[in-house]
Amino acid sequence: MGAQNGSTTTSTKPEDLKYQNGFGNWQESEAVPGSIPERGYAPQKVPHNLYTECLSGTAFTVPRDHNQRAWLYRLQPSAGHEPFVPYKGHESIVSSFYHFLPEIEPTPQQLRWDPLTVKGAKDKNFIDGIRTIGGAGDPQMKDGLAIHCYNFGKNMGNTSLYNSDGDYLIVPVTGDLLVTTEFGKLHVPSKFFCVVQRGIKFKVDVVEGTSEDGLAQGFILEIYKGHFVIPELGPIGSNGLANAKDFQTPVAYYEDNDEEHIVVNKFSGKFFQFKQNRSPFDVVAFSGNYIPYRYDLRKFNVMGSVSYDHPDPSIHTVLTCVSDVPGVAVADFVVFAPRWMVMEDTFRPPWFHRNVMSEFMGNICGTYDAKAEGFMPGGASLHNMNTPHGPDADTYKKATTADLKPHKLSDDSYAFMFETCYQVATTKWAVSECGKVQPDYYKAWAGLERISTIPRP
Ligand SMILES: [Fe+2]
Repeated sequence: MGAQNGSTTTSTKPEDLKYQNGFGNWQESEAVPGSIPERGYAPQKVPHNLYTECLSGTAFTVPRDHNQRAWLYRLQPSAGHEPFVPYKGHESIVSSFYHFLPEIEPTPQQLRWDPLTVKGAKDKNFIDGIRTIGGAGDPQMKDGLAIHCYNFGKNMGNTSLYNSDGDYLIVPVTGDLLVTTEFGKLHVPSKFFCVVQRGIKFKVDVVEGTSEDGLAQGFILEIYKGHFVIPELGPIGSNGLANAKDFQTPVAYYEDNDEEHIVVNKFSGKFFQFKQNRSPFDVVAFSGNYIPYRYDLRKFNVMGSVSYDHPDPSIHTVLTCVSDVPGVAVADFVVFAPRWMVMEDTFRPPWFHRNVMSEFMGNICGTYDAKAEGFMPGGASLHNMNTPHGPDADTYKKATTADLKPHKLSDDSYAFMFETCYQVATTKWAVSECGKVQPDYYKAWAGLERISTIPRP
């Protein structure tokens, strides 16, 4: 893919930012023309006397199909900075999920939360506004994941973050996000999501005037193992679900100043920081396939049954992070987007089930078809491994008596699911301290009485 010029100013409106399209393909972008070497990646003399830096997202020796890295051409190399010291700020980010840890409170109980808004968020930035809901494993061995929510109203200024523990998939609910990365800027409003991979420096700000209270609220899936890919399509064919062309990567953007900046690093579940007297966003050009990206959920090409039965929810998978077992995901990111329901002689909402996978859901906007009430935008639910769940009593009654005409599930309903093969161990904050758990959620199924016509013995 050819090079494109990027903006070098901060005056670009978020909605006017430029992007390149594609998923996982090699991309190049130059904020100053002629910055990428014509031959090779690391010539003796780099154009414009820039420094060459390689950022790898996979081991050097990973097969070509899976190899991810990027060559950065920057004003100064990342290595020049003051020593790491502990970062003081965040309160509730948990990275290890073993049951014996004091901050962990595992439960198989069905859980549902009111909108996960957090007091005091106005004065917090993105890093300090993250609260961990649950997860599995530990980042040290690169296996597991963490599920977080965020609430913040303060921009990051001259602070940036990079995560050595995993990749972040960020799903905003309210408040447009402006995500500045070493590769350029991403505008991520509600109904979009973005992925910022391990090791990439970035900062997240809320775009002024995009939420009623000036706050940004949303969810984060952090995966410790591997990277996300678009799922295989199998018999669907070569098109459909999330199309590669709809993923967007930034164009190069750089800052050239000598102001003091703080770079925060999440490493082994702890936070560190260092100072440097220049912006970390000084990459003038890049060439690679390890680049943050965004995606508009409204472009998801929904597939479904046009005959009978409600398909497995995996048909709605946008991205997956595969485990070592074929077909078993470390995490699937799934979207329930507006779609037509046309199945004949079918119970159309999701069926009752006991899933060997764990399901964390969040509502971005609108109403979810299995729960008419109680699952609000900004709210969430967790149905852990083997825990029974399904439609509530009211939804069941309506669905079993409905006239099965084709109907469209709301034009503006978007819910998502983080589905994982792991048991999700919840945090004490999420279960006992956040004050958002709906204590009566288990009663959603209380009205499902015995209605069978089989006579009792
Ligand atoms: Fe489920």
